[in-house]
Amino acid sequence: MNIRASEETDLARILQIENSVFQNSAWTRAMISDELTLNVDRKTWVIDSNIELVGYCMLRYGPNEVHLVNMAVDPSLQKMGIGKKLLIHFLDNIPKDSSAYLEVKRGNFPAIKLYLNAGFKDISIREGYYPDGEDAIVMCLNK
Ligand SMILES: CC(C)(COP(=O)(O)OP(=O)(O)OC[C@H]1O[C@@H](n2cnc3c(N)ncnc32)[C@H](O)[C@@H]1OP(=O)(O)O)[C@@H](O)C(=O)NCCC(=O)NCCS
Repeated sequence: MNIRASEETDLARILQIENSVFQNSAWTRAMISDELTLNVDRKTWVIDSNIELVGYCMLRYGPNEVHLVNMAVDPSLQKMGIGKKLLIHFLDNIPKDSSAYLEVKRGNFPAIKLYLNAGFKDISIREGYYPDGEDAIVMCLNK
C-alpha cells in the first residue's frame, strides 16, 4: 500500500468508490473535482494497492485547524486496516499547532470507532446536520 497526494486523474476512481459507499448521499463529480483542483486550502490523500486507488481522505485547512471532510475505503477492502493507515498518515502530516476536526453520522459505528481509536474525542452534536435528517457528532483531536 502506498499513500500519496491525489492527482486530477484520480477523479473517476474516487467517484466510483464514493458512489459505492455513500449511494444517495454521495458527493457529485463536481464536488470531488473541486477538492482535487482547488489546492489553496485543500488536500486529498489517496492510498493505492499494487493495482489501483483503494481509499481517500479529503482535507480542508483553516487557521490552526484541519477539517476532515470526506473519507472512504473501497467496500471490498474494508476492515483490513486501510482506513486506519490513511487516518494515521493524515494525522502525522497536519501542520504543527493545528487541531483536526470532523463530522460523522451518529449511527456510523465503523467510522466512529476508527476515529475514537485514533484519539478523536466527541465535542458536540449537530442535530439534523445531514440531508437525511441524521445528527452529526463533531469530533476533535488536538495534536
Ligand atoms: C470508515 C471506513 C473509512 C473505515 O475504513 P476501513 O479500512 O474499513 O477501517 P480499518 O480496517 O482500518 O479499521 C480501523 C478501525 O475501525 C473500526 N472498524 C472498521 N470497520 C468496522 C466495522 N465494520 N465495525 C466496527 N468497527 C469497525 C475498528 O475499530 C478498526 O480498528 P481495529 O482493527 O483496531 O479494531 C470505511 O468503513 C468506509 O469507507 N466506510 C464508508 C464511508 C464512511 O463512512 N466514511 C466516513 C465518513 S465520516
